[in-house]
Amino acid sequence: DMTDPMAKNGVGDHLPSRNNVVGEGPMTMANGSPVVDNQDTATAGVRGPVVLQDAWNIEKQAHFNREVIPERRMHAKGWGAFGDFTVTQDITDVSHAKIFSEVGKKCEIFMRFSTVAGERGAADAERDIRGFAARFYTEDGNWDVVGNNTPVFFFRDPKKFIDLNHAVKRDPRTNLRSPNTNFDFWTSLPESLLQTTIIMSDRGIPSSFRFMHGFSSHAYSMVNAAGVRTWVKFHFRSQQGIQNLTDQEAATVVGQDRESNGRDLYEAIEKGQFPQWKLYIQTMTVEQADAMETNPFDLTKMWPKKDFPLREVGILELNRNAENYFADVEQAAFTPQNIVPGIGYSPDRMLQTRLFAYGDAARYRTGINHHQIPVNQPKGVGCPHSFHRDGQMRVDGNRGSELHYEPNSYGNWADSPQLAEPTQAGGDIAMYDYRADDHDYYTQPGMLWRAMTPEQQLVTCENTARAMGDATLQVKHRYIYNCFHADPAYGEGVAKALGIDISTVDLTGTPANSRAEWLARNAVGKEL
Ligand code: HEM
Repeated sequence: DMTDPMAKNGVGDHLPSRNNVVGEGPMTMANGSPVVDNQDTATAGVRGPVVLQDAWNIEKQAHFNREVIPERRMHAKGWGAFGDFTVTQDITDVSHAKIFSEVGKKCEIFMRFSTVAGERGAADAERDIRGFAARFYTEDGNWDVVGNNTPVFFFRDPKKFIDLNHAVKRDPRTNLRSPNTNFDFWTSLPESLLQTTIIMSDRGIPSSFRFMHGFSSHAYSMVNAAGVRTWVKFHFRSQQGIQNLTDQEAATVVGQDRESNGRDLYEAIEKGQFPQWKLYIQTMTVEQADAMETNPFDLTKMWPKKDFPLREVGILELNRNAENYFADVEQAAFTPQNIVPGIGYSPDRMLQTRLFAYGDAARYRTGINHHQIPVNQPKGVGCPHSFHRDGQMRVDGNRGSELHYEPNSYGNWADSPQLAEPTQAGGDIAMYDYRADDHDYYTQPGMLWRAMTPEQQLVTCENTARAMGDATLQVKHRYIYNCFHADPAYGEGVAKALGIDISTVDLTGTPANSRAEWLARNAVGKEL
C-alpha cells in the first residue's frame, strides 16, 4: 500500500529498470582506445612496483578523484523526475506567457524535491522544510518556480539567509547540529514564528514528496497582452492528499530507510502511479497591493485566501524517472531568475537577492556553461540563442562562425522591445528598517494556531518541546513569549510541553517594533 509510509521500507525490493545495461563495444579509455586489461595493473616484474605507463590505471585514479562536485549549499539532499504540465483553465487575461496560451496545451517539466538543512547523504524523513522546485521547458525558454512546501519563510531580509544556513547546519566546534542554535536564531527573529509553527505542526514531516503541497511563497507578477501587471503567488496542490509522519513514525522510518522519500517517488513513477499537483494562482491587482496595510511582498506573510482566492491554472504530472541521477538531478541548476515573457518578478527583497544567488551557485557548482547540460537546456524552438561565448567546458560548437558582437550591420542579435514590462515605482535608496513598516509578527501565527484542532495544537507543542532539545532557558522563554503574543493558549501550551511554569516567564512589553527595542528585551546572557 503506497499510502502507508510504514509499508515502503523494503530495501532492494524493487530493482531499477535499466534501458542501457549493455554498452556497445569494448571498454575504452577517454580517448576511445580499447582498455587492454581492467584487472591487473602493469608492474615491473610479478612482485615489482606499478609503472606510470599503465595509462588506464592513472586515468581511472585521476577521474575518480574528481567525481564529486560541490553539494548545494542548501537543499543538498534531493530527488527529481520529469513529466508534463497541462493547462486546464484560461488565464490569458492575466498573462500572455505562451505556456498558458490555450487550454489543453502541454509543456515538459522537471521537478526536484529536497530537504533544506541536511547534507547530500542526510536521511529524508527529517522535520524540515521541503524544497519544491519546478521547471517548465516553455517555448520561450525555461521558467523555474523554486519554492517550498510552506507558503512563507523565516524572515524577509536576504542578508539573514547566510545566518540561517549557519544556524541550522553544524556547530563550528562540535560539528553537531544544535537545537539551541536553531532556536536561538529563530526566536530572535519574531517574524519567523509562522514558519516555525508550520514546521513544528503535524505537517512538519511529510510522509513523502507526493503527499505535500508546494508554494512559490514569494509574490511574482504576470503581465497580460495589454501590458497590465498583476501580482501573483503560485500554489501547487497535491492530488494525492496530505500525509505526514509523527516524530515517532519518522524515527522508525529513518532507522530502516534513510531514502524513504526518494524511494517512494521513484517507485510510484515506475509503477505508473504518476503523482500530480494542480497549479493555482492567487492574484492581486497593483491597486489592491498599494492599498494593503501589510507589505504584500513580505515573505513572512500569506495572502489571505478569503481576499485572494485560488484560481486554477493547470495540472503537473511526474511520469518519467531520470535515467541517470547525477546527469539530471545532481546537475540540475534551478534559479528564480528563470522566467519567460508574461511572467515577472516582484520587489520582494528575498526574491530579488535569490535572482543573483542561484546562478552564482550554479556557476560555482557546475561551471559557467551549466546551461548546456541537457537538464538545464531550454528546449523551445529558437532557444537557446544565447549570446554567451567561450568559457570552460563549452561543448556545443560555441555558435560556430556566428557574429559575436552587437550592434552589427547584419541584423543579428536583435532586442525584443515589445516584451518590455510595465514600469515599476521606485523610491530613494536606503537600508529601510522593515520593522518600522510592519511589525505585526503574530497575527498570522495566531490565526494558524486557532485553525488547528485541539489534537493538532497539542502535537505542535509537543513537537516544539522535543525539537528545542538542549536550547537554553533564555531561548525557551523567548519562544514562549513569541507564541504567547500569537495566542495566550499557544504560549501556555508550549510552556507546559517544555515543563516550564508560565508564571516565571516575563510576558510584558509590546512586541518589538525596532531592532533596538528587540535587543533590549533580549539582552545577551540575560538572567532568568
Ligand atoms: C537551493 C540560496 C531562499 C528554495 C538554494 C541554493 C542556494 C540558495 C545558494 C543552492 C542552489 C544550487 O546550488 O543549485 C538562497 C538564498 C535565499 C533563499 C540566498 C534568500 C535570500 C529560498 C526560499 C525558498 C528557497 C525563500 C523557497 C520559497 C530553495 C530550493 C532549493 C534552494 C527549493 C533547491 C533547488 C533544487 O532543487 O535544486 N538556495 N535561498 N530558497 N532553495 Fe534557496
